Amino acid sequence: MKTAIRKQMSIHPKVMDMLNNQIALEMHASASYLAMASWCDQRELLNSKAFFYKQAEEEREHGMKIFNFVNDAGGAAISPSIPLVNNDFESLREVYEKTLDQEIHVTHSIHKCFSLARSLNDFASEVFLQWFVSEQVEEEDVVRGILDTFDLMGDMPLKMIDERLPKE
Ligand code: FEO
Repeated sequence: MKTAIRKQMSIHPKVMDMLNNQIALEMHASASYLAMASWCDQRELLNSKAFFYKQAEEEREHGMKIFNFVNDAGGAAISPSIPLVNNDFESLREVYEKTLDQEIHVTHSIHKCFSLARSLNDFASEVFLQWFVSEQVEEEDVVRGILDTFDLMGDMPLKMIDERLPKE
């Protein structure tokens, strides 16, 4: 079946490919946060489970934001396959450390998309991606703050640490 081209594409094809990769990354982050939410839920870590359920929703929204942008720009958004995510963690601290690693990875990827859009004069994508650049600064900052709380709390029991984490 031939692809129906609805309108002229207003973003660069190379940027579109990177945005499709970014969709996959955001959806993978969503699945990964859902696994973390479940881990916290099973242990009655109320603040952390609320945090990760919300993060899972937010990452899906990020993915959909890019998905809709690509299609609205006349491109072809691709529904990604999600690789297996880790569901097993040693500790709550490890959950948050993995969260920070994941956010840093997403930030680098957003910066690459932004940089490519700029180098190819794809102004529509560059402006669109500005929101994600700011969002990543905020998300990394929140997780770093939580990890600081772990440093302050030392060997306190898990539930007591969870109770002291920022409420969503
Ligand atoms: Fe949408 Fe936190 O990356």
